[in-house]
Amino acid sequence: MKKVITYGSFDLFHEGHYRILERAKALGDYLIVGVTTEYYDRQRGKLNLVDPIMTRIENVRHTGFADEIIVEDHVGQKVEDIQKYGIDTFVLGSDWEGKFDYLKQYCNVVYLERTPNISSTFLRHDRMRLIKLGIVGTGRIAVRFMDEVKYVSGIEAVAAYNPDEISLSNFAVNYPVLTFSDYFDEFLNEVDAVYIASPNETHADYVRKAILADKHVLCEKPMTFTYDEAVELYQLAHDHHVVLMEGIRAAYLPGFQQLLTVATNGTIGEICDIDACFTRIGIKNSREMADSKYGGAFMEYGSYTMLPIFKLFGMDYEDVRIDSILGEGGIDRFTRVQFIYKDRMATSKTGAGVKSEGQLVISGTEGYILAQSPWWLIQSFDVRYEDPNKVDHYESPFVGTSGFRYEIAEFLGKINKTGGKDYKLTSQESIAMAKVVEKFMTMRRQQQGW
Ligand code: CTP
Repeated sequence: MKKVITYGSFDLFHEGHYRILERAKALGDYLIVGVTTEYYDRQRGKLNLVDPIMTRIENVRHTGFADEIIVEDHVGQKVEDIQKYGIDTFVLGSDWEGKFDYLKQYCNVVYLERTPNISSTFLRHDRMRLIKLGIVGTGRIAVRFMDEVKYVSGIEAVAAYNPDEISLSNFAVNYPVLTFSDYFDEFLNEVDAVYIASPNETHADYVRKAILADKHVLCEKPMTFTYDEAVELYQLAHDHHVVLMEGIRAAYLPGFQQLLTVATNGTIGEICDIDACFTRIGIKNSREMADSKYGGAFMEYGSYTMLPIFKLFGMDYEDVRIDSILGEGGIDRFTRVQFIYKDRMATSKTGAGVKSEGQLVISGTEGYILAQSPWWLIQSFDVRYEDPNKVDHYESPFVGTSGFRYEIAEFLGKINKTGGKDYKLTSQESIAMAKVVEKFMTMRRQQQGW
């Protein structure tokens, strides 16, 4: 019996899928079809699958061509499957031409002509209106964002706004978008949604204006400096039926979801303490190092360090205490925020112009989680126990270098109403962070006398 195997996501099942299965089956007597898991697809950069795996499997089954359907969930599985099932021929579409030649040492490798003018990507676009995105602020973060937004299908950056014309034109050299430096309203007219990456003190105003124009908003952290304003902006977004999301990247990374699961599923027992530290020596005259009003350690990194604390302990702390050491020019060089909860506590430590061990430690009654720097771009972590020889290692790598595409995919999913409720970062959590920022700003104003 001649055995053939082929793989795919088979999302929004289409004629191209049908035809490749038909031809693959004709190459042998027995066809095995591997359908990818969402997790595996995310790892290889496909972030917007529409159909759940069971639907995709059922659609393959309905063709009647597959004698057996298996699930593909990791890199390296193809070699395992070929050996396990005694495969004679491996088949994939011609878009993969050459990519699987390394399998020729195990079996025949055949690339079949792809069916023209149809793909899941095309259908996803067709189904969901392409979201036109505008970028507010064109500095370092915006550049990193632009390098990632192109990997998320269904959203396209089309315009940029910055009152600083030099920064704007430098940006436009690398990213061909419409540019606006005067009228924010004209810029808003060109887009469905905005990503706000301007200086911290301008975030809230841009958010408000964009929402009032019925645009969806993804805003860099910290979105606002006060509790009241955070409440107001989320209410405004609700009233205007638009998405408002604070861009705390770590919240959207697959590894962070895994860490939250392991922290809460009993592996380390009851959690007693969280210690989250983020420091960077930084560039001397950069905004975060030089802006004594709106820069500094806590403003830059505090959203990250508060994130695991609020996710795991909630927002009903009994007390919060903030201490800062000031650096050159009056920024906080190092800030420690201590949260006291009933029967547990947590510490956020942030540094700008100072270096420490940037780790996240979650201590429990059975063991602890250690996520090492840069845990805010988490790809792996350990669980350690009393016995130092016992260590459980968890890996959850993400594609790309900055992790932005997961945040963007979440934003797009919410806009298209495929993302459901706010789980990864709720508006309540974002508002709770604004409350701590407000306390910090009050202290800063007193220290600096403004
Ligand atoms: N395929 C094909 N003709 C098409 C589309 C896909 O022959 N027009 C083949 C692919 O080459 C692959 C299999 O169908 O061997 C499953 O592909 P999959 O990646 O699931 O489908 P795509 O439509 O290519 O999906 P996407 O747009 O998300 O990449």
